[in-house]
Amino acid sequence: MRSAKDFFRPLAVGAPAPVREVPFRPSRMIHFFDPGNEKMAAKVPALVPRVDVLLGNLEDAVAADRKEAARHGLVKTARATDFGATQLWTRVNSLDSPWALDDLVTLVTEIGDKLDVVMVPKVEGAQDIHYVDRLLAQLEARARLTRPILVHAILETAAGVANVEEIAGASPRMQGISLGPADLAADRRMKTTRVGGGHPGYLVRADPGPAGSGDPDRPAYQQDLWHYTIARMVDACAAHGILPYYGPFGDIGDVTACEDQFRNAFLLGCVGAWSLHPVQIDIARKVFSPSPEDVAWAHRVIEAMGDGTGAVMIDGKMQDDATYKQCRVVAELADALAARDPELAERYRAARAASADAEGEGR
Ligand code: GLV
Ligand code: MG
Repeated sequence: MRSAKDFFRPLAVGAPAPVREVPFRPSRMIHFFDPGNEKMAAKVPALVPRVDVLLGNLEDAVAADRKEAARHGLVKTARATDFGATQLWTRVNSLDSPWALDDLVTLVTEIGDKLDVVMVPKVEGAQDIHYVDRLLAQLEARARLTRPILVHAILETAAGVANVEEIAGASPRMQGISLGPADLAADRRMKTTRVGGGHPGYLVRADPGPAGSGDPDRPAYQQDLWHYTIARMVDACAAHGILPYYGPFGDIGDVTACEDQFRNAFLLGCVGAWSLHPVQIDIARKVFSPSPEDVAWAHRVIEAMGDGTGAVMIDGKMQDDATYKQCRVVAELADALAARDPELAERYRAARAASADAEGEGR
C-alpha cells in the first residue's frame, strides 16, 4: 500500500511536484483532430480560439499504418501553434498496443511543455494509471518539465466501469474521465452498432388498458442506454475531485439527438463532451454553459440566502442551504466560463440585469 503521506511526492527524481487539486479550466468541448492528416492539421490555428480543448488523436480512427505519421504530425503542430488559453491534449494508443510506449516517450520529451493532458484509452483499473503515472514522471524529469502533465482515462471497458472509483483516485495526476460508449458497448456485448446516443429498441411501454379495450396506441418511451454508466462515473469523479465528461456522439448529422445526449450528461454533472466535427463544437458550447436565465436565478438565490443558512421563499419556491449550494455550483461555473468567453459573459450580465429589474418592478 502506498502511504498517504507519499501520494504527493514526485515519482521520479527531478519530476515536478504533483498537483494537489485539479485546476478547473473550461473544457466544454474536447475537439478531436487527426494530426497526421495535413488538411486537418492546417485548420488547427483557426480552431484554437473556437474550442476549450484541442486533442491530437493517435488512437482509434487513425489506421495502423498512419500511427507514426499522426504522432509526428502532433509534434509538428504543437511546436508551430500558439494555443493561448486553449488546452492541448492527446489521446495515446492503448497500453497493450505496439504504439503506446513510443507515443508517450516522443510526446513528453518533444512537446511535454505544451501538453496539458494525456488521455489514456481502455483503462481497466488503477494498475494502468500507476504505469502511466511513473512513466510520465520519468519522462518529465528527462524533459526537465516544470509542471506535471495530467491524465484522463476513458471509461470503455466493463472492468473499467467495475473499477471506476479506484481509477478516479489512482493518482494526483487524474484530471478526469470520459465515457467511451462505442468500445464500452462492444466490451459489454451490448447489441448496438453505433457510437453513443440512444437506441429505438431500448424503451419502456405504458401498461395495457383494461382487458378487452384493444389499446392500439400504448405509448412507449425511449430510455437512455448510458444513464447508469454516466451517473456512476460522475459519482466516482466527484468523490475524487476530478472532472467527468460524455465522450463521442457518432451521428454527426443528428444534431438534435447529440444536443439531448450532451444535455443529459451536463444535467447529471458532466463538464464537457468530445466534438468529432466542427458542428458539435457549438452544441457543446451551448449545452455545457449554464443558460443565462439559470445563472441569473442562481444569483438571486445566493443573494437572498445571505450567509447560505436558513430558508427563504422566492417566487413560491423554497430555498435552503442545499439549493444555495446548487446555485453556487451554477454561478461558479458561469464565472469560470465567462472569464474565457466574453460573449457569454455579456449574456450573463444582461440576464442578471433583466432579472434585477423584474424583481425591482415586482416590489
Ligand atoms: C471512444 O473511444 C469510444 O469508444 O466510445
Ligand atoms: Mg474507444
